Amino acid sequence: MPKISEAAIRRLEKAARGAAARAYAPYSKFPVGAAALGGSGRIYSGANVENASLGLCNCAERTAIFTAVAAGEQSIRAVAVFTPTPLPTAPCGACRQVINEFGPEALVISVCDTKNRIETRLSALLPAAFGPGDLA
Ligand code: THU
Repeated sequence: MPKISEAAIRRLEKAARGAAARAYAPYSKFPVGAAALGGSGRIYSGANVENASLGLCNCAERTAIFTAVAAGEQSIRAVAVFTPTPLPTAPCGACRQVINEFGPEALVISVCDTKNRIETRLSALLPAAFGPGDLA
């Protein structure tokens, strides 16, 4: 798989930061933005969308990935997540599982309100993942 350019990574981070402004997070007051880089090279952004029935809240990462797949992407090369925090936060367990479905080796980048960042691979965040191959 070709290396993701620095320019694409910067665009992905910018999209994640921008998407946080569109979060619907009246309960947690924790607006999160995410962006997914699809196999086609296109970027899809998403935000967390909460619900009065609290168990139905959807994370920003899953919004971005589901948007990408609904637009026709079959693989995800990278995901960026922005949280309004001094330290970056890695995706939650449910989102790691969803990223695994489309990008088991995806680059996962976390950015925040400061220069602190995490750049890792999904396989490091979710080792020994259960995935499509286990149902074959
Ligand atoms: N949230 C995300 O959108 N992504 C994460 O990686 C962690 C948590 C959302 C879910 C909920 O709307 C709020 O942040 C507080 O947990």
